Amino acid sequence: MTSPITIVTGTSSGIGLEIAVQAAAAGHTVVATMRDTAKAGPLRDAASALGVSVDIRTLDVTDPASIDACFSSVLADHGRIDALVNNAGAGHVGTIENESVDDVRRVMEVNFFGVVAASKAAMPHLRESRGRLVTVTSVGGAVGQPFSEAYCAAKFAVEGFMQSLAPVAETVGVKVSVVEPGAVASEFVPNIGLSSADMVAQAGPYAPALGAYLARSGSSFANAQSSTDAAAAIVAVLTADAPPLRAQTSDGARAFVGASLADTDGSAVLGLTRTWVAVQP
Ligand SMILES: NC(=O)c1ccc[n+]([C@@H]2O[C@H](COP(=O)([O-])OP(=O)(O)OC[C@H]3O[C@@H](n4cnc5c(N)ncnc54)[C@H](OP(=O)(O)O)[C@@H]3O)[C@@H](O)[C@H]2O)c1
Repeated sequence: MTSPITIVTGTSSGIGLEIAVQAAAAGHTVVATMRDTAKAGPLRDAASALGVSVDIRTLDVTDPASIDACFSSVLADHGRIDALVNNAGAGHVGTIENESVDDVRRVMEVNFFGVVAASKAAMPHLRESRGRLVTVTSVGGAVGQPFSEAYCAAKFAVEGFMQSLAPVAETVGVKVSVVEPGAVASEFVPNIGLSSADMVAQAGPYAPALGAYLARSGSSFANAQSSTDAAAAIVAVLTADAPPLRAQTSDGARAFVGASLADTDGSAVLGLTRTWVAVQP
């Protein structure tokens, strides 16, 4: 078969950048997309360090016109689309009493509707190529985590969407997968855009719990998986002969998600996450 034409979203940094170069190294023709191609320097450097090339194009997952323009140009230049990797996403820390419904909607726009819109644009072409739809979700798509209501809601929504779509897409030859990273070293935390001190200062009655959560979260990110390793697990799903519906990027992520999936009354997860917001005496 000729080199598969694979579109990856959110490749300016982190996991998406690594997926782009590793998929190219695995023999895919990678269309590496980002909101602002002025941020393509790190991707170009990583591609040249690996001795691969990637086709860099503009795509903002919250802008339907940008998705249409990108997909049309890919079809015009490459003639087909064999895979879409929905990687673009953005973190968010907050709790509902302190934020507006519009704040929650914005988190859903990027992390859920962005995936829906790009997947809808890809489906007719994936059906034609009998291709693959791979989406980077999170352990937060299986385990609700403190101060992550909007983000986890979006990732749970993606997981439900893809689990529902999988058997339907399979009838027309399209394989659907979700891949769940745990903490990964990337621009994810800096891109949230607020310091821990600012977040706590704005948290009102939730300040002690948020302080405890951020301290715990800081130590978990200190042991984060590298973007390179997380991307390797995602590219393994992208290139597998028989990709699973659900995979994790590390053993730790697998154990965490597994515990939640087996926790039919929610007590195990709540027993754990409760400790993350407990203020130490
Ligand atoms: N890092 C973690 O601990 C972790 C854990 C679980 C899951 N994940 C998931 O992994 C994926 C990649 O995140 P990352 O860790 O690599 O973080 P990252 O370094 O912040 O990368 C996120 C990427 O998404 C892009 N993006 C944001 N909004 C976008 C939009 N509207 N349209 C197109 N691209 C957009 C960002 O582009 P800009 O440069 O333009 O902002 C960036 O390229 C996300 O889906 C995230 O939820 C991450």
